[in-house]
Amino acid sequence: MERVVIFGATSAIAAEVASRYAHRGARLVLVGRDPDKLAALAARLGDAVVATLEADLDDTARSEALVNQARERLGTIDVALVAHGLLGDQLATEQSWAEAEKVLRTNLLSPISLLIPLANLMQAQGHGHLGVMSSVAGERGRPRNYTYGAAKGALTLYLQGLRSRLWGSGVRVSTFKLGPVDTPMTATHRKNALFATAPAVARRIVEHLERRQGTAYVPGYWAPIMGVVRGLPEPLFQRLGFLSGR
Ligand SMILES: NC(=O)c1ccc[n+]([C@@H]2O[C@H](COP(=O)([O-])OP(=O)(O)OC[C@H]3O[C@@H](n4cnc5c(N)ncnc54)[C@H](OP(=O)(O)O)[C@@H]3O)[C@@H](O)[C@H]2O)c1
Repeated sequence: MERVVIFGATSAIAAEVASRYAHRGARLVLVGRDPDKLAALAARLGDAVVATLEADLDDTARSEALVNQARERLGTIDVALVAHGLLGDQLATEQSWAEAEKVLRTNLLSPISLLIPLANLMQAQGHGHLGVMSSVAGERGRPRNYTYGAAKGALTLYLQGLRSRLWGSGVRVSTFKLGPVDTPMTATHRKNALFATAPAVARRIVEHLERRQGTAYVPGYWAPIMGVVRGLPEPLFQRLGFLSGR
């Protein structure tokens, strides 16, 4: 029986991940900010949910205590998924440090504040799998979302170092580089054929957490696409409006 904690559990993708784990007989601690959404998700998942913890994860001073509470409720943590995120308003982050800081806090500082105690706890256990939601937006700065992209790119780099530190310790670290997914985060975005659905993305995340570690593009077709996007020289990139435009 797997014991799983999910931070940002009410995210559309994380809720699908939680549901998959519940169906497999896992025990879950769900951490989220919105008590109504948390209660609704817990009701849907039934006995699989050992506890819900209500927390604004921007309050990084609470992170270590939250991790300890999750461990107390589960006994041990086999899988921890850090899923919360905030796209924010790119134009606002260009005008206001307060707006930029919010995006950097939710997408970078908050995850790191959780990963420090989670990594140390799993290292002491000698096992565990840390999964974190990053983004293809972290691979190339674009006018459309570069504040969010900077946070996710730095998070990806942090995870690369953490994975290397924990290599051989029994603790696995996985980075999910998601492409666009049809969720509340992208509700106002015009959809195209490259958009994935939350259930499909959740299926791939759970399969990956079960069998592998390391970096996964989700869906997998983003690996070759990002290979090209990363490699484009800047003068060419600037001419491609669908990439360099707002
Ligand atoms: N959707 C995409 O296209 C896409 C692409 C690449 C990466 N991602 C990443 O995938 C992850 C899941 O996103 P999603 O698409 O499932 O979006 P979502 O449904 O909008 O979920 C975002 C979640 O983050 C939570 N959250 C934000 N700030 C928080 C805070 N301070 N404290 C606690 N919870 C907080 C939100 O809580 P509330 O419910 O209380 O608002 C919400 O549950 C995120 O890390 C996102 O950056 C998404």
